[in-house]
Amino acid sequence: MRDRHVAVIGTGYVGLTTGACLAALGHRVVCADADPYKVERLRRAEVDILEPGLPELVREGLDSGRLEFVQDTPGAVSDADVVFLCLPTPMGVGGAADLAAVEAVADEIRTVLPYEAVVVNKSTVPVGTAERVAALLGRPDVTVVSNPEFLREGHAVRDFLNPDRIVVGAADRAAAQRVADLYAELDAPLVLTDAASAELAKYAANFFLAMKLSFANNLATLCERFDADVNDVITGIGHDPRIGDAFLNPGPGWGGSCLPKDTHALLTVCEESGVEFPLLRATIETNVEHQRRLVERVVAGCSPGDGSLHGVRLALLGLSFKAGTSDLRDSPALAIARLLKARGAELYAYDPALSETRPDLSDLLTIVDTPEKAFEQARACVILTEWPQFRDLDWEAVAGLLETPVVYDFRNLLDPARLHRAALSWEGIGRSFAMAG
Ligand code: UGA
Repeated sequence: MRDRHVAVIGTGYVGLTTGACLAALGHRVVCADADPYKVERLRRAEVDILEPGLPELVREGLDSGRLEFVQDTPGAVSDADVVFLCLPTPMGVGGAADLAAVEAVADEIRTVLPYEAVVVNKSTVPVGTAERVAALLGRPDVTVVSNPEFLREGHAVRDFLNPDRIVVGAADRAAAQRVADLYAELDAPLVLTDAASAELAKYAANFFLAMKLSFANNLATLCERFDADVNDVITGIGHDPRIGDAFLNPGPGWGGSCLPKDTHALLTVCEESGVEFPLLRATIETNVEHQRRLVERVVAGCSPGDGSLHGVRLALLGLSFKAGTSDLRDSPALAIARLLKARGAELYAYDPALSETRPDLSDLLTIVDTPEKAFEQARACVILTEWPQFRDLDWEAVAGLLETPVVYDFRNLLDPARLHRAALSWEGIGRSFAMAG
């Protein structure tokens, strides 16, 4: 079913992807954002986030007339069959999701929504939010539907247009079906359910993914103890289709704008509802502990002998929370940098997606615009984001620059044999050189 009138409120990475992709599917979409500067730029197809394919889709949408950007939220919804709320739900006090933006917009649109419109919660919101928004709207003719997104940053357009599932939940099945129909052109299993189940499906997915990563990082520690190779262990278990080997690469801990926020929000939901979920708490704590352990490895190798990193300059490669994005929100690289800094290290960081200085980070580290500048006078190098271009650095030259020829490869990105040939010592996660080489 094409050509529905859709409003999308909020043009962050979820909202903009949703708007541009729904326009590409043939619907007429008006995206509203309170930020006039952003709206102005989007009208010129200038997209601030690093998301492959998105600028092109925005341009196509604008050219076809199916995509429009406005600042006026009530105006955007006044003609819409379906209104998507794609608003920020940051971590609030005590870890709970902060719903202030969702509530403010609900209040703003309640009187202007067309008769029998459908309002969709697309942002990740706690269980019960569909009901809460319905109460705020106070419009018996309007149904609130939960339709969580499962988009990965850096793959958002691809994930939207090739979803592995579409989850839509509401008490009113007809309203849920109306939302599902927007995706009719996509070939994906549809899970039609109630709102609470749809809301929980989102949290359960991100919790499970985080749990896999905490498992992989702990497993890596165990492998180090026994000189085993974590890659082989994961391959060894991954052939079992009940386990699989996806999303199990050890790293510097998991981060980003979603996994930390959503696991903490779910923990609050569990606490408030009196449900014990020890795995969830362990998943979060394991991440923190893992990062402390990685920092101890750097201290052990680089400390002048007093257990500190005073007077030690380190080259950090990568700051974004994963490769392919410039997003620093809850980046594990920054968490590790803070721990290194707390031990006294002086940090010079290079990230291919960040060329500018960042005043908000100036107390923590200096951002440089080439890897070579980071290596100058550095004692050792720490790889924190898996940018593939780091593999192609001139590692022989790097060996000549580092005081201690050690590369802490906390993404298991590099070929240890390659580094060995460059007279550099390689320290990966869960893999010894002998096993990996
Ligand atoms: C995550 C989920 O993967 C998406 O399915 C979900 O829709 C999204 O959150 C969301 O809730 O909106 P994203 O935050 O883009 O997506 O990032 P991921 O690709 O999941 O990576 C999260 C963290 O885990 C990163 O720090 C990454 O480096 C780390 N990671 C990932 C590993 O350390 N090892 C892996 O094997 C995979």
